[in-house]
Amino acid sequence: ARCSGTKEGCAEGDCGACTVMVGERDGTSVAWKTVNACIQFLPMLDGKAIRTVEDVKQGDALHPAQQAMVECHGSQCGFCTPGFVMSLVHVYERERACGSTPSRQQLADDLSGNLCRCTGYRPILDAGQRMFELPAATLDTAPVVQALRDMARPDSFHYAPGAGFNAPKTLDELACLREAKPDARLLAGSTDVGLWVNKQFRELGE
Ligand code: FES
Ligand code: FES
Repeated sequence: ARCSGTKEGCAEGDCGACTVMVGERDGTSVAWKTVNACIQFLPMLDGKAIRTVEDVKQGDALHPAQQAMVECHGSQCGFCTPGFVMSLVHVYERERACGSTPSRQQLADDLSGNLCRCTGYRPILDAGQRMFELPAATLDTAPVVQALRDMARPDSFHYAPGAGFNAPKTLDELACLREAKPDARLLAGSTDVGLWVNKQFRELGE
């Protein structure tokens, strides 16, 4: 797909250069969150929507988060920028949905998962405030909701090739799987298990 905007910095879930948005259907809307792409295993994204920095432009215009980063000089080498932009877009949509704007401290907290080594944080925080003064951007979620509906699985996800991956939907199902496969790895947010692969090149088994 030639979507090369997302960057890998640390490959261990620390720097946020790889931040993308992951969406799950929530009734007639989409619940988005930001994640570190570098520690996501592909099957964890089954049935979910992914937005990368390639997806945020409004036609030919930059998203307010991108435009504000330009105006406030929020980028130098640019390596951290796609991740910051995705975190800012997430803040932008969350606040706009409530008709509010974040305080400087709230913005700092929201961006605490993103590191910048050369610009410094003041211009980036300035951009986080400036983006709300620019012409509004609205994401049309209807096609995303429909796509998520279309791809929804009636049952839990089981992926057989390779070592195998199971994503139980209920606690009972998890308990049964645990009993049947006592040696299988338990995976939740992947903040530790992801590093076993990225940093230690371990085979995880099932
Ligand atoms: Fe640093 Fe993913 S590359 S958090
Ligand atoms: Fe260089 Fe942020 S602009 S690391």
